[in-house]
Amino acid sequence: MSFSPNHPSEYIRRWQDDYTRFRRDLHAHPELGLEEHRTAQRISERLTALGIEHHTGIGKTGIVAAIRGREASPHSIGLRADMDALPIQEEGDCPHVSTVPGCMHACGHDGHTTMLLACAHYLQETRRFAGTAYLIFQPAEEGRGGGKAMLADGLFERFPAERIFALHNWPGLPVGKVAVRSGPVMAACDYITIDIEGCGGHGAHPHLTVDPVLVTGHIITAVQSVVSRNISPLDHAVVSLCGVRAGNMDAKNVIPRTARLVGTVRTFDTETQEWIEVRLRELVTTVAAGFGAVATLRYDRIDPATINNVQQAQFAARVAAQLFGEENVVHDLEPSMGAEDFSYMLQKKPGAYLRLGQGSGDGKHDLFLHNSRYDFNDAAIPYGAGLLAGLVEAGLPLSGDRGQGSEVRGQESGIKASV
Ligand code: NI
Repeated sequence: MSFSPNHPSEYIRRWQDDYTRFRRDLHAHPELGLEEHRTAQRISERLTALGIEHHTGIGKTGIVAAIRGREASPHSIGLRADMDALPIQEEGDCPHVSTVPGCMHACGHDGHTTMLLACAHYLQETRRFAGTAYLIFQPAEEGRGGGKAMLADGLFERFPAERIFALHNWPGLPVGKVAVRSGPVMAACDYITIDIEGCGGHGAHPHLTVDPVLVTGHIITAVQSVVSRNISPLDHAVVSLCGVRAGNMDAKNVIPRTARLVGTVRTFDTETQEWIEVRLRELVTTVAAGFGAVATLRYDRIDPATINNVQQAQFAARVAAQLFGEENVVHDLEPSMGAEDFSYMLQKKPGAYLRLGQGSGDGKHDLFLHNSRYDFNDAAIPYGAGLLAGLVEAGLPLSGDRGQGSEVRGQESGIKASV
């Protein structure tokens, strides 16, 4: 798809080769959360070369860039991209395969970082907006607390964005399409650890033991009833036990003293989340007690649900439709039970989390996120970077554009008033 030369995506497409190289360099040199030193350095070098004011070391390895529009205004928009890779051994065979054993960009955060940088390049060069765009390069999205760390470092006190947007590439969606919806888009993620203590002994004399392996089996079965029997069929929740450890595989005649189960709970609604914790605790403790064992539940809330502000999601959808055509905006893509720590920022500021088409349809870029052969589709760079830039231009219009013509600009005053 090509657009008019002034379209942000078309403008950015001129730099396609350069940003493709940049993205592939990040892919070849992935870094885990809070260790993105090289990545941060590459970003900072680019921002410096572009003459963009930026601040490093926010949330350890995070960076915030500030770009002022050609007109002064108190209004501002924050755009956020994540930078970190995953502890996965890459099994793909692309030329820019990871050079770091056991670490790879399997979630496309290399693409997110690149798109935000291309957006920064475009905004700095054109500055067709009034006010300030804050570009937030966030570390450690993959469960290592980067979003929280940036907030703890005074992100919004130092860079007071009025509203915020982020996007994630989505393999199930073809390149050129954008999915936006109001309300929940990603689930809350909680981790559970269940410790069972019995009384170990000889496998031939089980009556002299309290067998934690047997208790574990009953707890595994009982826990399946939480979603199926305690949660409304119209609500959404997942309880998955993903790991079990008990005994010694070399000790076939020893009943162990302890066992452990670990897993995850996913919900959208806080009441559902709290009810699941209550039910898990009741089941775990009483099932174990029924066998004479003791079980404890540790329940850790990791990420809250990612909930899009209705007005900001509608605004983003209008911008996407203006840029790419209404036929390329998907309003009903199902929420994901995956989690996302942009949720912490959305708890502080109105905004929306969008999903950007990444699928190529030929199998090359259609594997799902976190697959060991995953590779971000560089064809998506102009779309994502252009969309982020479009949010700034439409959300912070120049005085000559305000209230004129386009639907985006026309409705803008109502959106501003609601912030
Ligand atoms: Ni991701």
